[in-house]
Amino acid sequence: MEKQIAPVIYFGGDYNPDQWDEATIRQDMEYFKRCHINYVALPVFSWAKLEPEEGVYQFEWLDKILSIIWENGIYVCLATSTAAQPEWMSKKYPEIMPVDNNGLKRTHGMRNFYCVNSEKYRERAAAMAEQMALRYKDFPGLVAWHVANEYSTFCHCENCEKKFRLWLKKKYGTTENLNEKWNTAFWGRTVYDFDTIMLPTDRNDDDKFFPAKQLDYQRFVTDTTEECFLNEANVLRRITPDIPVFSNISGFIKKLNQFQLTRNMDFAGWDNYPSPKDDSAFPALKHDIMRGLKDGASYMVAEQSPNQQNWQPYNKLKRPGEVRLLAYQGIAHGGDSALYFQMRQSVGGQEKFHGAVISHSGRTDTRIFREFEQLGEELDRLGGQILDARTKAEVGILFDWDNWWALENCSGPTCDMDYLAQVAHYYRAFHRKNIPVDIVKFTADLSQYKMIVAPLAYMMKEGLANRLKAFAEQGGTVVGTYMTGLADENDRCVFGAYPGPLRELFGIWVEETDALFPEEQNGIRMEDSGKSYVSGFLCDRIRTEGAKVLGRYEKDFYAGEPCVTEHAYGNGKAFYLGTQPDAAFLDDFLGGLCKERQILPVLDADEGVEATCRENQNGKFYFVLNHDIAEKTVRLPEGIWEDLTHQCEREGAFSLTGRDVAVLKKKGESER
Ligand code: GLA
Ligand code: ZN
Repeated sequence: MEKQIAPVIYFGGDYNPDQWDEATIRQDMEYFKRCHINYVALPVFSWAKLEPEEGVYQFEWLDKILSIIWENGIYVCLATSTAAQPEWMSKKYPEIMPVDNNGLKRTHGMRNFYCVNSEKYRERAAAMAEQMALRYKDFPGLVAWHVANEYSTFCHCENCEKKFRLWLKKKYGTTENLNEKWNTAFWGRTVYDFDTIMLPTDRNDDDKFFPAKQLDYQRFVTDTTEECFLNEANVLRRITPDIPVFSNISGFIKKLNQFQLTRNMDFAGWDNYPSPKDDSAFPALKHDIMRGLKDGASYMVAEQSPNQQNWQPYNKLKRPGEVRLLAYQGIAHGGDSALYFQMRQSVGGQEKFHGAVISHSGRTDTRIFREFEQLGEELDRLGGQILDARTKAEVGILFDWDNWWALENCSGPTCDMDYLAQVAHYYRAFHRKNIPVDIVKFTADLSQYKMIVAPLAYMMKEGLANRLKAFAEQGGTVVGTYMTGLADENDRCVFGAYPGPLRELFGIWVEETDALFPEEQNGIRMEDSGKSYVSGFLCDRIRTEGAKVLGRYEKDFYAGEPCVTEHAYGNGKAFYLGTQPDAAFLDDFLGGLCKERQILPVLDADEGVEATCRENQNGKFYFVLNHDIAEKTVRLPEGIWEDLTHQCEREGAFSLTGRDVAVLKKKGESER
């Protein structure tokens, strides 16, 4: 059982009160109350202020601020503040400073500028965490620990290199074994001594041209970042065993294997900064990934932007209603919070133009502040009833970090390889239909699903092939794609034709794969309907060995050859897509499979309305989110429904204005 995050939906976010005087802080408390803000995270970057010289701590200013915050009934997530070490520390212990990919030893400055493998950094960070925990263990407002901030530093220092060698020695035992697993016979890279192995960097180009080594380096960085997190978390847990501990995940989730990193956290939490160009499905997918990290447990949306950002190339304002819409989208997918960076806009520094709940104007009669007042009031009314509510999905989409890294480390077949974008392409087909999806690990138990979609499951590892076969055997529907079953966990390709261990499942083998130029297209012609669709990206030349052909290529020298196949396997079926079909194909094809398997949408609503459902002992909560600016209709199943957002009753069809949201619960539905 995960530790329960909170008794309420946390609403608030990063507060940096060490930047202001007491009068401003007291004023902020009044403003916060007007928005029903119940949670602040601090002091994320205040190590320099807390430890002015080694072993000398200065907590009085923080004591004061915390007491003002708690006097006002606001919960506190205390950050250990170790994301930016003090300048004196970097000077005194240069080993803390990271070395970049070009071999440049960086000097003090940026945040997240430390080597996660520096023993000195770890020693000082653990000491800081210990001081914090000892000082505030009895602070009544403390609800969570926030360790560091958005881990993401890839260091290439000598110390990291030494540790990497030890890591490899532990993993492979002998150089012979490593040589075999890394296939070092290629380009004469035979290793005779672990101590001569170099980190993959831009200087040796091993980060681009030695995929097996690069993959292990990415695993090594996750392992050692995990150690770095545990270095602080263990101290905190010893002193405050009942307070949950986490670290916020950056929205750029590729860098570290988050399945692994979050296994030691009491909950997952992430920072959601969609690009203004993202459609509504992309953040939805990332939320679902977050829910998948801890097997369906609710998570924290630890940061969002209250308005524009400062670091996008063009920092669009959040459109009216957008902050509220995005907040509900996070909750709709399994988040138990709506948290923001930042509460008050800083007067100077790199983020001075980043949006905030309270802007430089200091006024409350602003568009954004009013939106926070409304959102706060609504979330306050919802109270704790939806906390920890789960999503029930019958479709699982497989997702994996090793697979992601290995696919994108590949030279060929195309430079346009983007695993997350590919996963999103398939995810969108379900999102458009409001069919709930779980994002599942390659190692997960699949038995609870009716359908498993495995986009580009390139790397067969940890028994995945057998689990997929067993799933189909027992009646499951599997959908696989091009770039499946090509390599093992060391990125060594399979012999005996792709999709390797899944040949038997799909009843096909792939003879060769053609890459298309971005502007180039092929077509899929379906055998039964005669309907045509557009395809692109890659085209597998498929040879069937038991599978039935459902669709054939329309162009090129392989026109007329199979590109969509179906294979009966045990009590189930396995479908293979040899090329990337367009959205229309996926709507028809996956829509058809869902119908066949009786996988139903959450609710019936116009296009542009997202609908999800979360369920707990208090009942089923339906979320409807109109991502369009035009009014849209939602058609409710029979019965009287309580609209918890608009505080009214609904029956049959009702309309939602542009960007409006409703949380609904059927009246009279018995609570479990
Ligand atoms: C990240 C950081 C925050 C802040 C925001 C700005 O998510 O965690 O400290 O810099 O970005 O968008
Ligand atoms: Zn290092």
